[in-house]
Amino acid sequence: MDVDKLKSVAGAIVAQQKGILAADESNPTIKKRFDSIKLEATEENRRRYRELLFTTDGIERYISGVILFDETLRQRSRDGVPFAELLSSRGIIPGIKVDKGAKALALYPGDTITEGLDGLRERLAEYKQLGAKFAKWRGVIQIDGHDIPSAYAMHANAHALARYAALCQEADIVPIVEPEVLMDGIQDIDRCEVVTSQMLENLFAELSAHRVILEGILLKPNMVIDGMKCTHPASVRHVAEATVHCLKRYVSAAVPGIVFLSGGQSAEDATDHLNAMNAMGSYPWQLSFSYGRALQAPVLATWKGKESNVAAAQEIFFRRCQLNGLAREGKYNRAMEMDK
Ligand code: 13P
Repeated sequence: MDVDKLKSVAGAIVAQQKGILAADESNPTIKKRFDSIKLEATEENRRRYRELLFTTDGIERYISGVILFDETLRQRSRDGVPFAELLSSRGIIPGIKVDKGAKALALYPGDTITEGLDGLRERLAEYKQLGAKFAKWRGVIQIDGHDIPSAYAMHANAHALARYAALCQEADIVPIVEPEVLMDGIQDIDRCEVVTSQMLENLFAELSAHRVILEGILLKPNMVIDGMKCTHPASVRHVAEATVHCLKRYVSAAVPGIVFLSGGQSAEDATDHLNAMNAMGSYPWQLSFSYGRALQAPVLATWKGKESNVAAAQEIFFRRCQLNGLAREGKYNRAMEMDK
């Protein structure tokens, strides 16, 4: 294991102003996104869409890394350049989603466990050959009433995340460790904080037991936020304060960066929350983004699958990247959404 290499890649990903584009939707997930713009989810349409994102002028100022799905890592631009090579040539680090999705946890109705550890060592070796320098694994924690998630589901997911992280580091690939507490539900922000705290506590115990070098990982958590169906939504300031409070308690200062997922927040909310945290103070870790929907939803809505909309969609994508770059420094404000 080359610890210096792990640290340097992790550090480059959370460089000032920069964050990650999560473009690693599995084929069933991107189909859902394409359904919303009435576009058929063919391999060529997925390729065209990813090419639109990856060739947008100027995004390298704000995007340090892109997470790809297996199929995308093997695809090329229309000029025949492999996407990993195209991104690297622009100074953007290619990464790869390696988990195989969350499945029902046997005998624990309502809980899930993420699969994909079998054969992972061999898959990582191949992904490295194809140009990936970092990886992602997403554990999924659902909140439902007082009994879900179970303590066992949190432990099982933390254990799988730590086994994945150790295998990545063995291969000199930076693991993005993602314990996502879902925000779809009626729970309030306090319940989210309790569950997120328990999950992080489990996670760091397992990372330590698996001898994972914390200086060579990135953490991708949810923000501490009320569920989408909660009847009393928390303010931007409340989300920022609760999130920072929870992270300070449970995340080691050795971790170089925290790259939030957007989890179903609107593009504007995700930017606003990140900005509020960075405006509030400085922290032992960089606070950055690894957004999927919050970077892409407005782009898809503008593109609609049409060549004639590519330039307009790229303009919107660049702007979202730029606004999140400003949020990295606490220099964003909501009025900027109106500016061109
Ligand atoms: P969202 O930002 O849409 O939550 O996606 C990020 C991600 O990669 C989830 O695994």
